Formats: sequence, C-alpha cells, structure tokens
Amino acid sequence: RSLHSAATRGASHISRRGYASEPVPERKVAVLGAAGGIGQPLSLLMKLNPLVSSLSLYDIAGTPGVAADVSHINTRSKVVGYQGEEELGKALEGADVVIIPAGVPRKPGMTRDDLFNINAGIVKALATAISKYCPHALVNMISNPVNSTVPIAAEVFKKAGTYDEKRLFGVTTLDVVRAKTFYAGKANVPVDGVHVPVVGGHAGITILPLFSQATPKANLDDDIIKALTKRTQEGGTEVVEAKAGKGSATLSMAYAGALFADACLKGLNGVPDVVECSFVQSTVTELPFFASKVRLGKNGVEEVLGLGPLSDFEQQGLESLKGELKSSIEKGINFANK
Ligand code: NAD
Ligand code: LMR
Repeated sequence: RSLHSAATRGASHISRRGYASEPVPERKVAVLGAAGGIGQPLSLLMKLNPLVSSLSLYDIAGTPGVAADVSHINTRSKVVGYQGEEELGKALEGADVVIIPAGVPRKPGMTRDDLFNINAGIVKALATAISKYCPHALVNMISNPVNSTVPIAAEVFKKAGTYDEKRLFGVTTLDVVRAKTFYAGKANVPVDGVHVPVVGGHAGITILPLFSQATPKANLDDDIIKALTKRTQEGGTEVVEAKAGKGSATLSMAYAGALFADACLKGLNGVPDVVECSFVQSTVTELPFFASKVRLGKNGVEEVLGLGPLSDFEQQGLESLKGELKSSIEKGINFANK
C-alpha cells in the first residue's frame, strides 16, 4: 500500500518523458523466468531503467547468481533474487508490473503452438500466484504461444475474481521492432524515426504489420510490401533457425520487453500519450483478444485504438488470420477451464 501512495504523491513530478529531476514514484517490477535466455538480458535492461525502484528476479533455479550480478550495477533499483515456488509470493508482493518470460522456447521445425503443452501449465501457475499476491499489477506476458497464454491468464484471473482487462498484455513489441527494422532497410530511411503498427496476434500469419500506415511514407512496390510482411511474420522462425536448436530470440526480445515494460511504467506514472501495440482484450474485431495500438495510462489500458485504414492486402491478411487466432484463443480458454 505504501508503494502506491508514494506513487500517487510522486506522479505530479514526472516529466513528459518519464525522467525527472524530482524523485520518481517507487515502482516494483518482477521478472518471472529471470534466469532464462530472455530473463537475464531483460533483468539487466530493467536494472538500467530509472523508473524502477525495486527489481524482483524470480525463477525456479539460477536467480541468486543473476540477482547478485545485476545488483552490483550502480543504478536506482534494489535487486532481490527469489528461487523456487516457495519464494514466488515474496517475489510478487507489491509488484506494479510483472513481466513473464518463463517457459520453453522453440527449436527448428516447431510452431509456437507446439510449446503449449509445457508453457500453458507454467503460465496458469504463475497467473494463479499473481491473482493472490499482486492482483493489481500490470502483467506483461511474453511466454509463448502468446495467442493462448494471454487467454489462459485472463481465465485464471476471472476465476480468482481479480480479472481487470486493462491490466493484462500480450507482449507483441518484438513484431513492431522487427517491422520497423525491416521497413527502414527497404525504405532507406533512418530507423529511429520509423513507426509501423502491427496488429492481430503473435504467431505466423496472425502477425499483421500495417505497412500502409508506416511513417515516414515510402512508396514501396506491392511485392516489397509482401516480402516485408512475410519477413515480419517469420522473424521469430528466422532466429530459431539461425540459432539451430539453441532457442529463439532472446536479446531482441529482451530489448522489446524492456521497451514495453517502460511504456507501462510511464503510463502508470501519468506520462501522457504513451501508445504501444499489444495483444489485449478487444472489441476491435469479433475476436475477444486482438493486438492493436493501445494507449497506456494510470490503470493500464486507457484506450484500445482501432485499426485505421487498411490496404486491400492488409484487409485480406486480417480476414485470413481470424480462424487461427480464434482457435488459439479458445485453446487457451479451454485449458484454463479444464
Ligand atoms: P529459456 O529456456 O532460456 O528461459 C526460460 C526460463 O523460464 C528458464 O530460466 C526456466 O527456468 C524458467 N522457468 C521455467 N518454468 C518456470 C516457472 N514455473 N516459473 C518461473 N520460471 C520458470 O527460454 P527463453 O528463450 O527465455 O524464452 C522464454 C519464453 O519466451 C518462451 O516461451 C519463448 O517462446 C517466449 N518468447 C516470446 C517472445 C515474444 O515475442 N512474445 C519472443 C521470444 C521468446
Ligand atoms: C519470436 O517472435 O521471436 C518469439 O515468439 C519466439 C519464437 O518462437 O519465434
């Protein structure tokens, strides 16, 4: 409770960018799966974030070492490592943001859905603990298949009576990061000024980059747009194949996860106009969850933004992704209610 009252007191001092000369609010961030391929660099990046005052690193093994290492960095947050299920409650208590990169990654030849059997159970257990120890935290779900793990968490929270659709996010930021990088390369523009919304979900054709809305504008040929779309949809597979059995994207994902968590913290701190794409409960389409731009605020999702005008190619992409996304969502819901 004291964390939250300190947050309210400090909020008026936050500058637009979320960095201020005055003290910023106290914020606890918990990383679940902190000793993993994503978890370690993500913990490092969260340790570098001045908006974090308390960094809680949880995993079933390996967190004492990661926490000791990261804790020596001379930045604001206090770092504590928690190891094993019996320490999960302490890891979560008082958390404002919980980031979840726990679970197994793909190997070549696998789809994200092939991870369902192992990761669904992990996510269900972690969501159950969140509903008990930090029911008001913003949850950033990285564990795959995101199209199913987010609905699983939602169902767990509903059963516990703690569900708030404004506080649950599937992290699709890596799709946006990739779309920006690939677009900048083809459009020959500086990547740091590029914006590309990516909507739908986070697997194969459910990832739908909207290059017709990309800025700065570049009149790219249709075949280039098609190739950029396919590369964005298969960006994860490109990394899985290059790593040849040693896992999937970890470093670019840690970057993307840190970016999204930072946006959540800025929203919580009252920074205006924080907009990111995320897979959230949605009425943008007939599907109950959908990734689109969302405005982040003091309670999480302030507003789910619409799709905007789509090209014919994007409209077709939207129609073709709905079947797969619907069944992945239903698979998650059914699992949680088993
Ligand atoms: P990894 O195997 O390197 O690390 C996973 C970590 O999770 C391990 O340290 C493991 O001990 C931990 N873990 C397992 N069960 C746990 C539990 N019950 N509680 C807490 N921690 C637990 O895998 P990784 O490369 O870090 O990937 C993690 C997940 O993130 C995978 O499911 C992967 O598919 C997904 N991922 C998602 C995106 C995205 O864009 N959303 C991008 C990349 C990877
Ligand atoms: C990604 O997009 O890199 C992740 O979802 C990991 C994967 O399995 O591709």
